Amino acid sequence: MDKPKFYITTPIYYPSGNMHIGHTYTTVAADTMTRFKKMTGYDAYFLTGTDEHGQKIELKAKEAGVTPKQFVDKIIAETKDLWKLMNIEYDDFIRTTDERHEKVVQKIFKKFYEQGDIYKSEYEGMYCTPCESFWTPSQLKDGCCPDCGRPCEKTREESYFFRMSKYQDWLIDYIETHPDFIQPQSRANEMLNNFLRPGLQDLCVSRTSFKWGVPVDFDPDHVVYVWIDALSNYISALGYASENPELFNKYWPADVHLVGKEIVRFHTIYWPIMLHALGLPLPKQVFGHGWLLFGGDKMSKSKGNIEYPAPIVSRYGVDTLRYYLMREMPFGADGNYTNEAMLTRMNSDLVNDLGNLVSRTVAMIEKYFGGVVPAPNAEEEPDKALRERFEALPEIVEKQMNALQFSVALSEIWKLIGDCNRYIDITQPWILCKSEETMPRLQTVMYYLAECIRAIAVYITPTMPSTPAKIYEQLGLTDESLMTWDSVKTFGGLKAGTVVKKGAALFPRVDVKKELEILNPPAKEEEKKPEPKKEEKKAKAEEKKEEPKSDDGYVTIDEFFKTKLITARVIACEKVEKSDKLLKSTLDIGNGETRTVLSGIAQWYSPDEMPGKTVVLVKNLPPRKMRGIMSEGMLLCASDNEGNLKLLTVDGGEFAPGSEIG
Ligand code: ME8
Ligand code: MG
Repeated sequence: MDKPKFYITTPIYYPSGNMHIGHTYTTVAADTMTRFKKMTGYDAYFLTGTDEHGQKIELKAKEAGVTPKQFVDKIIAETKDLWKLMNIEYDDFIRTTDERHEKVVQKIFKKFYEQGDIYKSEYEGMYCTPCESFWTPSQLKDGCCPDCGRPCEKTREESYFFRMSKYQDWLIDYIETHPDFIQPQSRANEMLNNFLRPGLQDLCVSRTSFKWGVPVDFDPDHVVYVWIDALSNYISALGYASENPELFNKYWPADVHLVGKEIVRFHTIYWPIMLHALGLPLPKQVFGHGWLLFGGDKMSKSKGNIEYPAPIVSRYGVDTLRYYLMREMPFGADGNYTNEAMLTRMNSDLVNDLGNLVSRTVAMIEKYFGGVVPAPNAEEEPDKALRERFEALPEIVEKQMNALQFSVALSEIWKLIGDCNRYIDITQPWILCKSEETMPRLQTVMYYLAECIRAIAVYITPTMPSTPAKIYEQLGLTDESLMTWDSVKTFGGLKAGTVVKKGAALFPRVDVKKELEILNPPAKEEEKKPEPKKEEKKAKAEEKKEEPKSDDGYVTIDEFFKTKLITARVIACEKVEKSDKLLKSTLDIGNGETRTVLSGIAQWYSPDEMPGKTVVLVKNLPPRKMRGIMSEGMLLCASDNEGNLKLLTVDGGEFAPGSEIG
């Protein structure tokens, strides 16, 4: 029998800057859901991507002195690196600059025009460039953009408009008769009361004042404006209206569009109307999740109050961040992001609860049974209670996950972890081990713990995909059929006789205060230099005169200080194909920026040992292409296991006096 289908999407993000924790939040949620669906027997398909057109990108590219395409290409490459770092396994990444997408947009636009949904007129209104939004005068707040509070520009130009009002009554009826369509439910009421019932305005769908967009093929002065371009990604990516519509036929309609609450309106009003006008079925659900706030305000590129994932991942591991994002706030509600809460949660939930349970249990099996998981004996009260929790869990977790209630699902899983830890306290293995008579009890206790840990590893897989393998290794589990979702529906899968093996701690315990100083170093007070005295000035001037010039093989001190040396952290590293010498490192250079650098160190360093290292980077060398890859800068030093900076090996590891570094 064919597996049931599940199609899930994230918004396509604006590549006007690097993706931050807010974008990561939605993407991790979609990835977690996809992994969960795949584990529970679905043929799941996960789409993400980028929304690359518009005036803002055009302006940003101009500021940076590059073409819009060059500008977005760089950010898209970094976005894909970030998703790799976050362990995101999307099935497709759609870019609105893809030809496959642009063609579909043109077809859709033409169809709307031909069937009378779109007409040409003139637009006058207020435009907020950072938010890419038009506002009617009545929507402005004190004459400024109601979203970001910045001044808007008055614009008047010829535009195409979509007759939204025509479909208003149909949509009201649809929303009222499909209570699952907009989630959480409160957002459905908001759409009905604030937008639909008061009456829809026709939507401006083309612009002539900028060029960076999909041209309207029958009227090339116009480019398609924002929402028709952006929303149609969900079907263009599947091959809608192309020669290869197989994926579209298989997966449409989407099961759920995950979006932040600020764009629920576009996904539950414009998008259903567009689809209806195309004669297509609507997505089964649009889920508007809440915002990650930072300092009480929405974390956002245009406000600049941003936290980036790479530094957190490189210090505490990808699963720590994924867990925190999915656990901390109920999906649907807003919540503050703070590094302090993240670290506190890591110490309590991951280090104390989960990490300790695994390391204690494995250590006890090693100590009491030579590392061999014993067979259980007769079940007693506390064992029974634990087994019942185990057996009740699949249904509870599935229900919460299917409702996208990640935080509730995780807290249910953590109840089993808590029960296991309490079970150790109640059964007191350190006393049971003291007498031959109680050894059979100890066998049961150890077996029950090991079996529960197996199930916990399975349950956390969608959220924390890289931790289970470490747990299985410590449990000595190699049989993949005991790592499936189905396998934890019955208690007792783990085979007695399995040999456990103590390993490294699953998560690092940290000193929260110290870490916070590292993650958010207090801003340095501007060092106030006293005005140099007259004599000093004179002496300085003399020194300057005597400074050697840059001929004769000297560099002047001014020239030397032009070299920008910065510390960076390696977030990924791989061998360059067909080269024995070169490693390609992806560096986190702060402020959410990443860099790619090639270094001739492959003989001395393996790509596996590089991630996590602190390195010294010569930042302002001109970019140089080697083996078809652009290298931006040069590495000088890298940290060793103790975190000390060491010179990067030159000439086979010898640092003889006089070795030339570069
Ligand atoms: O709106 N908290 O792109 P965008 C939670 N291109 N989620 C956040 C967040 C935060 N602080 N910041 C961003 C666009 N997000 C359009 C979408 S879709 C056809 C077109 C997430 O770059 C959240 O999913 O502004 C939000 O809706 C999305 O990023 C906005 O990304
Ligand atoms: Mg936005």
